[in-house]
Amino acid sequence: MSMFLGLDVLGVDIPSWRDKALFTPGPLNTSGPTKQAMLRDLGSRDTEFIEVVKDVRSRLVGLGDGHEEYTSIIMQGSGTFGVESILSSTIPQDGKLLILINGAYGERMLKIANIHRIQTVSLRTAEDDVPDPKSMREALESDPSITHVAVVHCETTTGIINPIEEYGKIAKEFNKIYFVDAMSSFGAYPVSLRACNIDYLISSSNKCIEGVPGFSFILAKIETLKATEGFARTLSLDLYAQWKGLESDGQFRFTPPIHAILAFRQALLELEKEGGVSARGERYKRNYVITLSAMEALGFKPYLPAEKRGYIITSFYYPAHPNFDFRKFYELLSAKGFLIYPGKLSHADCFRIGHVGRLGASDVKGLMSAISSVLKKMEIKLTE
Ligand SMILES: Cc1ncc(COP(=O)(O)O)c(C=O)c1O
Repeated sequence: MSMFLGLDVLGVDIPSWRDKALFTPGPLNTSGPTKQAMLRDLGSRDTEFIEVVKDVRSRLVGLGDGHEEYTSIIMQGSGTFGVESILSSTIPQDGKLLILINGAYGERMLKIANIHRIQTVSLRTAEDDVPDPKSMREALESDPSITHVAVVHCETTTGIINPIEEYGKIAKEFNKIYFVDAMSSFGAYPVSLRACNIDYLISSSNKCIEGVPGFSFILAKIETLKATEGFARTLSLDLYAQWKGLESDGQFRFTPPIHAILAFRQALLELEKEGGVSARGERYKRNYVITLSAMEALGFKPYLPAEKRGYIITSFYYPAHPNFDFRKFYELLSAKGFLIYPGKLSHADCFRIGHVGRLGASDVKGLMSAISSVLKKMEIKLTE
């Protein structure tokens, strides 16, 4: 069991339980008070809960620097449900979606669009590279029937950060509706919805805001959203109807994830207390820097070149050593209280280490010394 779990992060959080430290892309470790905020029973249509939802929604718009041009909509289900909500209910029958793909989550958007029989154009880039803005421009020039553009901000497959502001400028120039999946980055990378010309941005409760799983949230440009009435291909994922419901009486159309929302509000307050998105990003960056230098010293090689790496999650190649077996490596680390993450790449054997969640420098150092001792146990030496 981990002796570390976030005790140093803000110096105030001493949970009465000791779970494993999650060096994953999420769900992540959360603070004690965030978990404790769920120990309530609130009526889903009662004023107290409605006030909490209102507060959470307005804080989310503030985090995206959205001002009065944007609204936020909570959608039940995991992040994928939210992505499916946007794709299936904001693109008209005669719309056409350009998807910039450089990993598994871009591929997933394509899969969703295909299921809903949405016309698409895919711009595929290698997983270790960012989609080229010039190619995006060419795609828009050569096919004027494209109406929407979608991209992932941090492609969690590798940890690469795609230049969403550059794509947003081009989308605006060509007057296209622009959708950003910022699932694993929102709350840790500052994003200005207005500066990036984003129409829809999505993230979820259990990523960098450090809440528990249960819902996704969408930050939507009100003017764009207003024009989508009647576009939905499903009832439950109808983004416009969900927004209308929340706006009219503050209530959800269907059972809301009350406890996850209560936890999320606590997590938002803690984000503010930590110093906001930039302070949180700094803590994650420190986690990344410690991880990278210790892993390189042990002989591991990161998958991405330095300039393309972000500080959300890092992919490392499996070492070329006959004794390395990822499952065994994982289990031995797990027995020591640390969970790392398998890779998701289509063409290279990698594993991933996340830098996000309620973890600080001492947790990361704990993981690094556990990795060092597990390597010894597996009789693997990667450096001379
Ligand atoms: C960029 C991105 N998009 C979408 C998802 C899907 O989210 P979920 O697993 O919550 O459905 C993830 C999950 O990690 C992600 O990182």
